[in-house]
Amino acid sequence: MSRRRQIYEGKAKVLFEGPEPGTLVQYFKDDATAFNNQKKGTITGKGVLNNRISEYLMTKLGEIGVQTHFVRRLNMREQLVREVEIIPLEVVVRNVAAGSLAKRLGIAEGTQLPRSIVEYYYKNDSLCDPMVSEEHITAFGWAATQDLDEIMAMTLRVNDFLTGLFLGIGIRLVDFKLEFGRLWNNEEMRIVLADEISPDNCRLWDIKTNEKLDKDRFRLDLGKVEEAYQEVARRLGILPEGGPTDLKGPKTMQ
Ligand code: TMP
Repeated sequence: MSRRRQIYEGKAKVLFEGPEPGTLVQYFKDDATAFNNQKKGTITGKGVLNNRISEYLMTKLGEIGVQTHFVRRLNMREQLVREVEIIPLEVVVRNVAAGSLAKRLGIAEGTQLPRSIVEYYYKNDSLCDPMVSEEHITAFGWAATQDLDEIMAMTLRVNDFLTGLFLGIGIRLVDFKLEFGRLWNNEEMRIVLADEISPDNCRLWDIKTNEKLDKDRFRLDLGKVEEAYQEVARRLGILPEGGPTDLKGPKTMQ
């Protein structure tokens, strides 16, 4: 059992105090929720796979100059990250109509959007993460105009890069959600990509069949949920050494 100090427990992850000041350990759970916690379940092996998938994507993004909170993977379910002050926004990028956009605006799911659309949601569970505009964000001081410009530029860069990366493995990046944090170095502040990038917060469709390879399989009870996460990891070339049998990982907590 772990004796580290727990800093925060979210729906899919736990944050612990890290080994050095300014670091945290991000632990990936198998728990899944949808529709703001109304639907709850477990996706066996999800934590192990999301730890790997997020490591892989954050590392690739780091290589093209997108600064992230990721430092290194520690074990099957944990990664070391820099401690950041999370900006309370969910930044959603959409390339193809799906989910809440398709529903709200009556656009058929699967319609290619005329251009990528970026939306902001205020990260607040008790309010069910309402959509907000730049006006709300700056007026309430969640982020400054300059911060938002930086967030937008980083978001579009991430979208361009990930769209190409997934296309290369036969996957359409339909939409995804990012979170950003402020990283302080004395008086200096920079904005870095935080949280995770995984099938929990992306819509990923097979390019040929449009088969959903993401959390929508859980949200919509489509079955083969574990298999979808494994398929994404397999195509990225990062299934854990022992293959799908190795997905439970060590029980370092729970
Ligand atoms: P939406 O269509 O439900 O608004 O979701 C858009 C994208 O954002 C989709 O890839 C799933 C992701 N997402 C999250 O990661 N967390 C959330 O709480 C929600 C609502 C969506």
